Amino acid sequence: MTFEYAPAPESRSIVDIKAKYGHFIDGKFVTGKNHFATINPATEEVLSQLALGGASDVDKAVAAAQKAYTKTWSKLSGKERGKYLYRIARILQERAREFAVLETLDNGKPIRETRDIDIPLVAAHFFYHAGWADKLDYAGLGKSPQPHGVAGQIIPWNFPLLMLAWKVAPALATGNTVVLKPAETTSLTALLFAQVCQEAELPDGVVNIVTGDGSTGSAIVKHPGIHKIAFTGSTEVGKKIARAIAGTEKKATLELGGKGANVVFDDAPIDEAVEGIVNGIFFNQGHVCCAGSRLILQEGIADEFIEKLKVRMSKIRVGDPLDKNTDLGAINSREQLLKIQELAGVGDSEGAERWSPACNLSAKGFWFAPTIFTGVTQAHRIAREEIFGPVLSILTFRTPQEAIEKANNTPFGLSAGVWSEKGSRILWATQQLRAGVVWANTFNKFDPASPFGGYKESGWGREGGKHGLSAYLKEGK
Ligand code: NAI
Ligand code: MG
Repeated sequence: MTFEYAPAPESRSIVDIKAKYGHFIDGKFVTGKNHFATINPATEEVLSQLALGGASDVDKAVAAAQKAYTKTWSKLSGKERGKYLYRIARILQERAREFAVLETLDNGKPIRETRDIDIPLVAAHFFYHAGWADKLDYAGLGKSPQPHGVAGQIIPWNFPLLMLAWKVAPALATGNTVVLKPAETTSLTALLFAQVCQEAELPDGVVNIVTGDGSTGSAIVKHPGIHKIAFTGSTEVGKKIARAIAGTEKKATLELGGKGANVVFDDAPIDEAVEGIVNGIFFNQGHVCCAGSRLILQEGIADEFIEKLKVRMSKIRVGDPLDKNTDLGAINSREQLLKIQELAGVGDSEGAERWSPACNLSAKGFWFAPTIFTGVTQAHRIAREEIFGPVLSILTFRTPQEAIEKANNTPFGLSAGVWSEKGSRILWATQQLRAGVVWANTFNKFDPASPFGGYKESGWGREGGKHGLSAYLKEGK
């Protein structure tokens, strides 16, 4: 007998989406130009029209942020800045359901994740950084460390509001002001956040939001009034930004791509490890820079493990992101779907073996079934390139040394996981893995107190924790 769930959709009546938006500059919503549509990727329904920010919009936003920096924000004590951050955090909690529904509509990720992961973490980031604002002088960050001034922040579409929080909370806690550009497919929660800034009576110009595409982002990066850049996105754009600011005084943190290895030893608790692998690659449709997109399995348990993984994957519920039972939602955009399809096709043509459970995918919207590839070797493109979708490449190993070599054989170095019952093996392996975050017997655990970032092509610098704060500060006089 199969057990069927009745549909359990979350109501969308709590959100109020305007037909058209402009930018948020100097504490006010201002009109914009050259509007483009933002859609619900699960249905292709047009949700709203967003303005494409040009150089003059960026100029106005930077001028507002500069004025707010010199006139108000840099004059406030840390304690006073902290009060605003606490206020923002509390309003975010009060309006959590509204944010969760809006994020799910605009991004396609399941409500279960926006409700239980994204939005609670967003509030946690503001609470955590609120606590830092009045302690910066006593934290080993140097004697009276100083803000840089205006921070230009460019964020991606995979965790829209969470990436905003990762960037805005430490910037404000340290006394910087902000010009932020959300991703073109997922700007709505950033614009709702602008309302929260108004509700919290944050001084005008401390947070400015300019919507738009890569050209808007590029105008922010090149603007002479910007003192620090914080970027999360593709390695390709990260490299462009690094080139654009070379030779200037601008500081930057870049959080880029990954090809995380999840290494499972033959003594690992198999059922728990299967659960962790599923979470590592199918959380957020695999649109996760630190996804465990390579499973590196010890040969002796490979067959049993893959069988159990298939049984577990057959239980993943793909469908309406607003349904509270959905595990895997829509792919964020047609472009991203095409990229996933293309790379999966390369997996087929290079001789790896594809498997997906039977799924009823809707004809409308952008969907990709949870997928694994077995028989993958190091030479395959699906073992080397970031797919950024629900696709797992499975490799095997015989000796622990071979596992580490395979795991580290990547241009990236953002995340890794180790699964073993033996403490000494975990300590040994975590020391060998060249990744910014290594999880042991768990995966995709995030906490504002924990620094996050990568080695090699995964980026520069760290976000979160004390390390993340230091990127927004310079030595005091
Ligand atoms: P992207 O890197 O083009 O976009 C990220 C952000 O950068 C967006 O806000 C975008 O408007 C902005 N941007 C684009 N060009 C810019 C430029 N020249 N200067 C300044 N800002 C610019 O990422 P995209 O095209 O959305 O996704 C492409 C691939 O990148 C994905 O398939 C995935 O592999 C990877 N990616 C990785 C992310 C991560 O968290 N590591 C997040 C998003 C994408
Ligand atoms: Mg959208």
